[in-house]
Amino acid sequence: MTATPAPAALSLSLPFVPRRVVIGASAHADIAAMIRAARPELEVRGAPFMEITAADLAWADTYIGFRRPPASHDMGAVQWVHSTGAGVDGWLGQGLDAVILLTRSPESFGPMIAEWAVARVFAVQQQLVSLMDAQREQRWAPRDIARVAGTRALLVGTGDIGSHIAAAFTALGITVTGVSRTGQASHPAFRAVYTVDRLADLVADADWIVLSVPDTPVSRGLVSRAVLERCRGAVLLNAGRGAVVDEAALPDALDSGWLRAAALDVFTTEPLPSSSPLWGHPRVLVSPHISGLTTVAGAAEGFLACAESLGRGVWPTWVVDRARGY
Ligand code: GLV
Repeated sequence: MTATPAPAALSLSLPFVPRRVVIGASAHADIAAMIRAARPELEVRGAPFMEITAADLAWADTYIGFRRPPASHDMGAVQWVHSTGAGVDGWLGQGLDAVILLTRSPESFGPMIAEWAVARVFAVQQQLVSLMDAQREQRWAPRDIARVAGTRALLVGTGDIGSHIAAAFTALGITVTGVSRTGQASHPAFRAVYTVDRLADLVADADWIVLSVPDTPVSRGLVSRAVLERCRGAVLLNAGRGAVVDEAALPDALDSGWLRAAALDVFTTEPLPSSSPLWGHPRVLVSPHISGLTTVAGAAEGFLACAESLGRGVWPTWVVDRARGY
C-alpha cells in the first residue's frame, strides 16, 4: 500500500515541514480551525476552491483540496498537495506537475458508501420508486417483491470501499465476488476475487455489479459496451468514477435488458448535463456524487497525519503512486 515516490522527481525533500497552507474547500474555515488547533505554528488560509487565487498559490508551500483550482493558475510555490478525496483524478487528470508531492485522504469512505449501496439495492428490489408513483396516484398496485438474500454481487474494487460493501452485502445474504487489479482482496466477505481481465465473463452471473474504483489507466472504460452486452439483467451501481463506464451505452444497456436498472452517483461530466438521457430514464437512480462525503475531521486529520510523517522524514502511506493512479 505504501508507495514511495522517486524523490528525485519532487521539489521537496525529507524531512519536509509545511509552513504556509492554503485550503481550497467550502468548509475551509472549519478545516483550518482544526489544523490551527493541532499545529498553531502553521500559517493557514482558505477559500472555496473556485476562489483560490494565483496569489494564494504563490504564498503557500502546501495546498489542501479535492481538485485543482481553476486552470488559469499554475500551482505557484506549492510543493505538496493533499487531496481531501480518495479519488485523485481532480489532480492527475488536470496535469498536476510531477515535482509536486500528491497525497490522498486516509479517511475511510467505505462505511458510508456501503450504506449508499445497500439503500440502492433495497430501493430496486423493493420497487420503492414505482410504489411511490402508485401512491401519488392513489393506485393500489400489488406486485411480487423478490428477496435480496440469495442474490449475487460482483464488486469491482476490493479496497477499503469494496470491502465495506462486501461485508454489508454478505450480512444481507448476498454472495459476493470481487474483481481487482491484482486479483486479491483482504476481506473475508469476498467468496472469490479475480483479476479485471475476467470481468466480461463474470458479469453474466451477477445480480448486482458495484463499481468503487477510481479513474485510473486500468479502470477507465472498463465497463465497456462489450461488457454491458454480457450482462444478464444485473443492476449496475457506480460509486467510483463515471469514466469507468461507457456512459453513452447505458440507455441501450437498460433498454435491451442487459441491465435491469442503474444507480449512479458519478458521471463523466458533473454536474450531470440536463441533456443526459440518464436523468429521465425510468430505471436510473441518479445521485449527485454524495455516496462518500469527506468530513471536516477527515480532511484535517488526514493532512495532519501526512504532515507528521513528512516532518519525521517518512513518506506517508497515502502518497499517490502516479503510474497506478491512486
Ligand atoms: C469522492 O469521490 C472521493 O474521491 O473522495
